[in-house]
Amino acid sequence: MSDNKIYLSGIKPTGTVHLGNYIGMLSQMRDISHEHKTVMFIADLHALNIMRDANAVREHTYEIAAIIMSMGFNMNNVLMFRQSDVPAVCELSTMLTNVTPKGLMDRAHSYKAAVDKNISAGNDTDLGVNMGLYTYPILMAADILLYNSDIVPVGADQKQHVEFARDIAGHFNTIYGNVFRLPEPQIMPDAGIIPGLDGRKMSKSYDNIIPLMAPSAELKKRIMRIITDSKTPDESKDPDESTIYMLYRHFATAAESADLAEKFRAGGMGYGTAKTILFEKLDSVLSPMRVQYEYLMANSNELDDALSNGAEIARRIADKTMTRVRHVMLGTKK
Ligand code: TRP
Repeated sequence: MSDNKIYLSGIKPTGTVHLGNYIGMLSQMRDISHEHKTVMFIADLHALNIMRDANAVREHTYEIAAIIMSMGFNMNNVLMFRQSDVPAVCELSTMLTNVTPKGLMDRAHSYKAAVDKNISAGNDTDLGVNMGLYTYPILMAADILLYNSDIVPVGADQKQHVEFARDIAGHFNTIYGNVFRLPEPQIMPDAGIIPGLDGRKMSKSYDNIIPLMAPSAELKKRIMRIITDSKTPDESKDPDESTIYMLYRHFATAAESADLAEKFRAGGMGYGTAKTILFEKLDSVLSPMRVQYEYLMANSNELDDALSNGAEIARRIADKTMTRVRHVMLGTKK
C-alpha cells in the first residue's frame, strides 16, 4: 500500500447498477482499492429520501454488495458494510446538526435544484422536499467523519457535499478542539458522459440503462436496441458521435479502441456489426464477474455474512469516534 490514507465512498441502493455507475465510479474505486485502504458502504439511509419500497432497498443493497465482491476490488483493503448497520452515523448526524449553519443547507445544489424546479413550475418552494433531502449533506458529513476519511473520491456533482463535510468538521474543530480529520474531495478522472440506449446520459430516470450484470441474452438485446443514425454500412461514421464506440472504449484496450474507431471512419461496417463487436467485448469482460455475482445473489446468506462482518469492524471504528465526540460535546467519560 502506497500510504495510509483512508479513501471512502458510498453508493445509494436506489436502482439497478448500470454501465454508467461502473465506468463513472465503481471501476475507479476498484483501482483505488489496490493501492489504499478503502471504505465502501451502501448508503441505504441516504436512499430513503426517494425510496419507499423496503424490499427494493434490500435487493439493491444485495446487488451492490455482490457487485463489489465480484468485480476485482482488493477485498483485503476494503471495508464494506451497510450504512444502516452502524446506527452511530445517525447519532453523529444529530450532533453535527448543531454546528451546521442552516444557510449551508440552503445552498446545497440538490436542495436548490428542487426549489428552482418548484419555482419555475409555479409551485410552493418546498413542495415534495422532505427533511431527508434537506439534511442529506449532514448525514453525508457524518459518513465521512465517522470513519476518519482522508480522501473522498467523487464525481464533480458530489464535490460540494465533500466540501460541506470539510466545512462542518472545521466548525466543529474550532469549537471543540481537534476531533475530526479534515477530508478532501478527489475528483475522479472525468469519464465523460456515458450515453445510454437513446444517446442521452445513462440514467435510471431516462429508462435507457444497460444493467452491469444483465445476463448475456439481455445484454445483447439491450445493445441491439442502442439508437443510431440512419447511415448505411458503406458510409463513414464518426466514432465519437456513436454510443456504441463511446461504450466500447471503456472496456477495450487502447489498441482495440483505435481499431474500432478506424473501422467507423473507413466505412464498410454497419451499426449491426459494430453492436456485435461491442456485445462481445462487454460480455467477455463482464462474464467472469457475472458468474460470481449470480452465485452470491443466489446465496444471499454469504452477502449477509460479508455485510455483517464489515459492519462489526465499522461499528468499532465508529465507537471510537463517538466516544471522542460525546466527550467533547456532552462531557461524558472517555
Ligand atoms: N451522495 C452520494 C451519491 O449520491 C452517496 C454518498 C452517501 C456518499 N454518503 C457518502 C459518497 C459519503 C461519498 C461519501 O452518490
